[in-house]
Amino acid sequence: MPAFAAYAPGKIILFGEHAVVYSRPAIAVPITNVKARAAIQAEPLAEPGSIRIISPAIDLDSLLSDLPSEHPLVQSIAIFLNHYGLKSLPACTIRITSDIPVASGMGSGTAVSIALLRALSAFIGHPLADQTASNLAYEVEKIYHGTPSGIDNTVVTYSRPVYFIRNHSPELLKVSKPFTLLIADTGIPSSTAITVGEVRKRWEQDAKDLEKIFDQIGEITTQAKLCIEEGTPEKLGALMDHNQQLLQMLNVSCPELDNLIQRARGAGALGAKLSGGGKGGNMIALVNEDKIEKIKHALSEYASRIIVSEVSSER
Ligand code: PMV
Repeated sequence: MPAFAAYAPGKIILFGEHAVVYSRPAIAVPITNVKARAAIQAEPLAEPGSIRIISPAIDLDSLLSDLPSEHPLVQSIAIFLNHYGLKSLPACTIRITSDIPVASGMGSGTAVSIALLRALSAFIGHPLADQTASNLAYEVEKIYHGTPSGIDNTVVTYSRPVYFIRNHSPELLKVSKPFTLLIADTGIPSSTAITVGEVRKRWEQDAKDLEKIFDQIGEITTQAKLCIEEGTPEKLGALMDHNQQLLQMLNVSCPELDNLIQRARGAGALGAKLSGGGKGGNMIALVNEDKIEKIKHALSEYASRIIVSEVSSER
């Protein structure tokens, strides 16, 4: 019997992290060469309602009924069943795999949710519209992240660059000319909650100065949107460098990120910045094809993982 399989990509924030918390725009892009996959196999001989979940990355091989109710996979399935007004699934085995780095701001949890929701809908034979998949994944995120902005579920579902302002409908961006990002991981788990909290503390002490920084980041993000839409991605490099200066002023960079950024620029990147919460996690660099090997070489000793990905309007 065939398995019902579905995929969802990783993501990265290109511009606007932190300022987006204070209602300035941000841009996130899908990283399509890393993916989460969910595959569901019917088990007609198993006991009715028996659902086995296997996820080697988190060392999981368990019956759904034996997992704690707050487990993200249990929550995703519960939210899915509730949406369709179903009580349970036919007996099956669900296999989750992913090569999206965990805890590095690449949206691995969201991608697992979306892949699982899509595989479940194929398995029960109900079509799942993208917007519904995105909304359901957002429900799952709310349980774990309190007040997620909604950017992750949108960019991962649509696998398209997204321009996002808090409490507004996200806008899918048309990429008139594809461009290439090199993503290098410091290997330090990124601490989004901590850095967001630290920025909040500074904002409480010095709102005027921080608001000025957020305004400048917002302006950069708006310009970046234009470059992406009008097909001048090479101009994004200078905007990334400027965004990084402002992130340093917010004190969310760290020596390891600064080192990767300097080395990437030194080896020919058009621009580079941290991505996501900061103080660890990934740096991203805008690169021309002919410089990729040189930049990879310059970073290899310092990065725990390097991913090169093209950003385009293709899904
Ligand atoms: O680390 P990530 O990719 O989850 O991004 C965090 C982005 C912040 O702006 C720092 C926080 C947020 O909720 O938008």
